[in-house]
Amino acid sequence: MTSGLTGAWLALVVVQVLAWAGACVLGAGLAPLTRRARALALVGLGLLGTAAAVCAAVVAANLVAVSWSFGAEKLLVAAPIGVLSSVAATAVLVRDLVRTTRNASASTPGLMGVLVAAALGAAVAPAALLLIGGVLTPAAGLMLAAVWLVGSAIALLAAHHRPKRAVISAGAVAALCAGLLALFTVFGPSSAAPASAGHHLVEAQPAAAGTVPVTELRETEEGTSTVTFELEARHETITLPGGTRFDALTFGSVPGPAIVVEQGQLVEVTLTNRDVAEGVTLHWHGYDVPNGDDGVAGVTQDVVGIGESFTYRFVADVPGSYWYHTHQGALEGITRGLFGSLVVLPGSGPLDTVEVTALIHTFGGVTLVGGTDVLDVPVTEHDTRVRLGNTDQLPRRVVLDGDARLIAVDGRDLAEPVIVSAGTVLRLPAGGRLDLLTAPGDVRSLAIEGAPGSGLTFGGADEVAALSFSGPEFDLLDAATSPMPAWAAGPYDVEGVQVLDRLVRVVDGIPRLADTINGAAFPFIDPIVVEEGDVVAVTIENRGTETHPMHLHGHHAVVLSRNGVIPDGALWLDTIDVRPGDVWRVAFVADNPGLWMDHCHNLDHARTGMVMHLAYAGVMSPFDYGHGSGNDPE
Ligand code: C2O
Ligand code: CU
Repeated sequence: MTSGLTGAWLALVVVQVLAWAGACVLGAGLAPLTRRARALALVGLGLLGTAAAVCAAVVAANLVAVSWSFGAEKLLVAAPIGVLSSVAATAVLVRDLVRTTRNASASTPGLMGVLVAAALGAAVAPAALLLIGGVLTPAAGLMLAAVWLVGSAIALLAAHHRPKRAVISAGAVAALCAGLLALFTVFGPSSAAPASAGHHLVEAQPAAAGTVPVTELRETEEGTSTVTFELEARHETITLPGGTRFDALTFGSVPGPAIVVEQGQLVEVTLTNRDVAEGVTLHWHGYDVPNGDDGVAGVTQDVVGIGESFTYRFVADVPGSYWYHTHQGALEGITRGLFGSLVVLPGSGPLDTVEVTALIHTFGGVTLVGGTDVLDVPVTEHDTRVRLGNTDQLPRRVVLDGDARLIAVDGRDLAEPVIVSAGTVLRLPAGGRLDLLTAPGDVRSLAIEGAPGSGLTFGGADEVAALSFSGPEFDLLDAATSPMPAWAAGPYDVEGVQVLDRLVRVVDGIPRLADTINGAAFPFIDPIVVEEGDVVAVTIENRGTETHPMHLHGHHAVVLSRNGVIPDGALWLDTIDVRPGDVWRVAFVADNPGLWMDHCHNLDHARTGMVMHLAYAGVMSPFDYGHGSGNDPE
């Protein structure tokens, strides 16, 4: 419903802008009309513009009723200026029409200035949308209002003195707008200086007493036993099903070697880089390792260059489905193949299930499941556990032709399995995992939306059935079957907010449409700062038109509510599917000290700004990103 309101608001703003732009064209005499006909047409456009402005204000009020951040700049900046300028200009136009009717020779002097001022007033709405967004500060609001006032004054003066020189006022207005853009992108909300929490303390000052570098936050526990893996990153041309060749980056296979360990074991993975010029790291997506083993270039370590290596260690004490991937140039690295699965099996001893790990990944437009187009699952007398994961940038929807049970989400077993009946569509957020259990013979195919022919078959079905995706979508909140931890009820020591938006901001030194959190783009976003032991609540609000799968490293969060709906039990997530217009509240305990990434796992969005830190007070990173460091986490 929020998306509908936002769409309606946008449409009204377009009408308002077009009405006043059209009025400017008429006012400048660019249409062959008699004076009277023109005056009449102008009044019509003025009334249209005014009506649109008033309706937009009403819609803005409704958006604010949903969430302050969804409508603040629309209600407090765009609406007053839009309505005021429209009403004033329309009043002048009506007077002009009356005059023209009475005395065909008279026309209001400086009329053009009034029209330009109204057009500028209408333009405040899109400007507020793209420059201010959901984090409205008095400074930002006043800055925009001031530009409108100055632009209008220039237009009125210019038109009054030289009625024909509307061009001059238009030029002045354009210059003002350019200046405004520069002001916002350079000095806009919290973008004056990089949010430096935890960074550069080494260079800036001697480490304060009690300051812990992330390099000291490494795994210190011993496991029941140690399992070692070696992963070598390399360039490789792979052949996709169908014969297309793809210039990949791999850990020796696609996906990388499956890392399967037993609960309690110490996992020791040595990464080496054969020939990946961009460098590589290993991040354990969803597995909450100690910070120094988290594998983020420029935050928890330096990038592993060609010929170099790095050894990660962590005790795998939480069974579940996870994955690993490079966190250096992650968008390109993962897209081209630098990822694999990590599975922690419960305890030791024989399994009573057939295990299938099915990471869905798109290579150059070809969707693969576990490295192939059709992954066939042998059917035995045992149930099959299918560990689905989405390593792409967009959510993926899958459907089965038989009943299955959802038994785990994001590496956390559900207390009660939930039936997913045949034809029900399951949605996997980018980076997310869902584990399904199927009984022998119940399911023949699992199909993937948008990838006909790709999917899973069970027991040697010839091909993946062409299933319909028009069935109901499974609501993940229905998987909230675990007991809610007592601390989740609050009180919260820290309240974090993430307003997700798309605004004009500087990214990599260039102003552009950026994916922002709280009005800023990485690295200018203020971190959420916590102390060890804090109970942290975070409200995530998506103002945009795209889904943002928000992924917090090092912690699993429990869902408190989504769009006001409180789940019946606990649902633990590491990747939150925040759709347009969604408001999620989640909570977690700050029990894993470090300097952590918290970012959108649509890495196109991460690339253009949607990355911030969860920073524990007193933890610092001696590493740096950008600035010729070679580190480039996303
Ligand atoms: Cu899988 Cu920082 O991400
Ligand atoms: Cu996103």
